[in-house]
Amino acid sequence: MESALPSPTTAISPADLRHAIGHFATGVAVVTSVAADGSPVGTTANAVTSLSLDPPLVLVCFDRGSHTLAAVRDHGAFAINVLAAAHEHLSTAFARRGAQAVWDAVGHRHGDTGSPRLRDVLATVECRVEHHLPGGDHEIVVGRVVDVEASADEAAEPLLFYRGAYARLVPA
Ligand SMILES: Cc1cc2nc3c(=O)[nH]c(=O)nc-3n(C[C@H](O)[C@H](O)[C@H](O)COP(=O)(O)O)c2cc1C
Repeated sequence: MESALPSPTTAISPADLRHAIGHFATGVAVVTSVAADGSPVGTTANAVTSLSLDPPLVLVCFDRGSHTLAAVRDHGAFAINVLAAAHEHLSTAFARRGAQAVWDAVGHRHGDTGSPRLRDVLATVECRVEHHLPGGDHEIVVGRVVDVEASADEAAEPLLFYRGAYARLVPA
């Protein structure tokens, strides 16, 4: 029997999906790793999710063409750097493909996995890659958390992304 429902793959345009899912407000992170030549790499990402507490797992969804994803595949580790409201310029800088030039101006140190940890971010979650999973035009990378660090500044504000634009937290 023919379904009365429209085919989900043809009825939903990327623009419609981006618009609708953009109402789900998120934080903004820079996900970092190390390229094959040893140089630091990073990309702005908001498709970042806590997955499991025991074992400690998180996931990041990367565009399959991402240079950072290629480095994560080679290096086998990455760090999620959670941006503060004052870091909009970092989000913009790391949203450029192959943002190597940015690194000279960005304070960072290398964590135990070698992945760059950005200075003064709200939190850093450093991971070793556990799984790579297919996700359409993206790839889901599941990381086992090996180290975490969070800001002790209770007044620190996160950078948010909502309906395709940066936003600020308004406490309830
Ligand atoms: C707020 C924001 C969130 C983003 N989230 C993601 C994401 O979750 N995954 C992704 O692959 N790209 C995301 N992007 C786009 C990448 O940052 C952008 O494509 C970047 O150029 C990729 O760089 P790379 O190829 O050097 O890794 C986001 C961009 C912005 C501005």
